[in-house]
Amino acid sequence: MDPRSIENSLRADIAACTTPEELEAARVKYLGRKGVLTSFLRAIGEARPEDRPRLGAETNRLKALCESLLAARRAQLGAADDRAGYVAPVDGTLPATNGVSGRRHVISLTFRRIGSVLEGMGYRLARGPEVELEYYNFQALNFPDEHPSRDLQDTFYVSNDILLRTHTSPIQVRYMQEHKPPLKVYAPGRVYRNEALDASHQAEFHQVEGLYIDTDVTMADLRGDLLLFLRDLFGSDIRVRFKPHFFPFTEPSVDVDMSCFNCHGGGCVICGQSGWIEILGAGMVHPNVLRAVGIDPDRYSGFAFGVGVDRIAMIRHGIPDIRMFLTNDLRFLEQFTER
Ligand code: DAH
Repeated sequence: MDPRSIENSLRADIAACTTPEELEAARVKYLGRKGVLTSFLRAIGEARPEDRPRLGAETNRLKALCESLLAARRAQLGAADDRAGYVAPVDGTLPATNGVSGRRHVISLTFRRIGSVLEGMGYRLARGPEVELEYYNFQALNFPDEHPSRDLQDTFYVSNDILLRTHTSPIQVRYMQEHKPPLKVYAPGRVYRNEALDASHQAEFHQVEGLYIDTDVTMADLRGDLLLFLRDLFGSDIRVRFKPHFFPFTEPSVDVDMSCFNCHGGGCVICGQSGWIEILGAGMVHPNVLRAVGIDPDRYSGFAFGVGVDRIAMIRHGIPDIRMFLTNDLRFLEQFTER
């Protein structure tokens, strides 16, 4: 090896060191007893006599260079070490940086609002799985085998007897299996249907179920609770009306309208000029459903209702298209804050 290539390699080696251990290894490699420069010095004895003084001087220069490069690199690394431990003092007088903070989704806000109203009325929280047994979603709820909503076209099946729940009503059954009356619960959650998508239909949406079972529960109790519930959400002058309807799990069943909170019944764009807004489904729990969970329908009665949460949010906030909830457009989502 000639002095030039030794110089090149020691410069490169020392520059590449990032820890004290690597620096020590580089020192040993060049300056150690069997190091490159030491060996080079020894080999000078074999060079031609007229070359020896020049080679000796070169070796000494390289030794000095190596030592000073090692020292410089050590100082550099030490300084970086000190910087890593350095914490800048906080200047409380500087203007705040405009940090981005998250917020709740408008559907979550609506769930919370509905939940707090119902809890205030004595309903307790119940929950159930989104991937549900066919038994809870349909059979125990008195759906006949040939009911159209059991069809593949309306329901997402995981297997023959497992599906994505199409409503929150199966939570009624699960809860009644585990608890004896009197019971009063609400059950929020996401539900799934194989829908053709448009401004008011999405394959994934949200419901809150209500259930009250006790002795002597009547439709007047249902009406009273729904009135309280809707007045809390939409205003104290809200009226409700029941229209006959059919659900397999309630008898009688009703579609519930509330008077339009915007025009108070006069007719406007929100209620489609009718003065009324269709807001939920409800009814008296069918005796077959009570029987399926071992509750004696001659002793107990009760009501149930199911609310579309997306629809409530759309009505409350004037949102024109249900698909806006799931497209994740921040310009839309940022408009809703906790109130
Ligand atoms: N499960 C019904 C649906 O998804 C809504 C419903 C109607 C729930 C009447 C109820 C009820 O508990 O009594 O369309």
